[in-house]
Amino acid sequence: MKTTAQFLMMKQQREKIVMVTAYDYPGARFSEDAGVDMILVGDSLGMVVLGYESTMRVTVDDMIHHSKAVRRGAPQTFIVVDMPFGSYHGDVNDTLKTAVRMMQETNANAVKVEGAGDIVPVIKKLTDAGIPVVAHLGLLPQSAGVLGGYKVQGKTAEQAEQLIQDALEVEQAGACAIVLECIPHQLTAVVSEKLTIPTIGIGAGAEADGQVLVFHDLLHFGKHHMPKFVHSFAQVGDEIERGIKGYTDAVKAGTFPTLAHSFTMKEEELNELYG
Ligand code: KIV
Ligand code: NA
Repeated sequence: MKTTAQFLMMKQQREKIVMVTAYDYPGARFSEDAGVDMILVGDSLGMVVLGYESTMRVTVDDMIHHSKAVRRGAPQTFIVVDMPFGSYHGDVNDTLKTAVRMMQETNANAVKVEGAGDIVPVIKKLTDAGIPVVAHLGLLPQSAGVLGGYKVQGKTAEQAEQLIQDALEVEQAGACAIVLECIPHQLTAVVSEKLTIPTIGIGAGAEADGQVLVFHDLLHFGKHHMPKFVHSFAQVGDEIERGIKGYTDAVKAGTFPTLAHSFTMKEEELNELYG
């Protein structure tokens, strides 16, 4: 398993860091076997796995439930778990208790929190308690309601300046890495250059020290909307559709199961059964 120190070294040596989200045992196994550097149990599970419209209804218990399955599937991979909406905005001691519970119950390696400002002391508190924290700036899905939707962030010089300041503050507070979501690639270049800790981009251009994508997006697994910044490297959804349709058609047509899929009783046993 890689460590935060190794991620720092990868940045220094300009070796890209690969992160992917996972939410269950098979997804985690495939990801570990593919050799990704880090797995994120993202609260995007609210949308891609649980069918909610946003991340806001995901609970700490949801995150723990899924993260345990991910750990079982990826015992050798650095796992980051999202702290969900509302779980780190109250009293900082409550936040620490929640983070400790998440780490202990899931055996994850780090937690992730969105934002700077009021969140900076939270990052410091958790880090001081020994919990590695990944920060998340730019588009903050848990604040989409306040941001007015899922929009590119940091497009004006003023916003960009603020984001650079925020990035420096979360690094200062002890963050071990930072996710940059949906910002102009030139801003990603500046932030990545100014920080010692690795930046992991999503919709943030090639200049980040690493990349992260949502499992279901990169595989085109599901019927949800794919954002502009996603590239689907496979078409799993089409295959699943084909498979379930094929099964349904075969059962209806009586072509499945065949004798080859069936268990057969010996002739003499049958005779005895019927006398
Ligand atoms: O929840 C998630 O999948 C994330 C990534 C988009 C970074 O936070
Ligand atoms: Na998230």
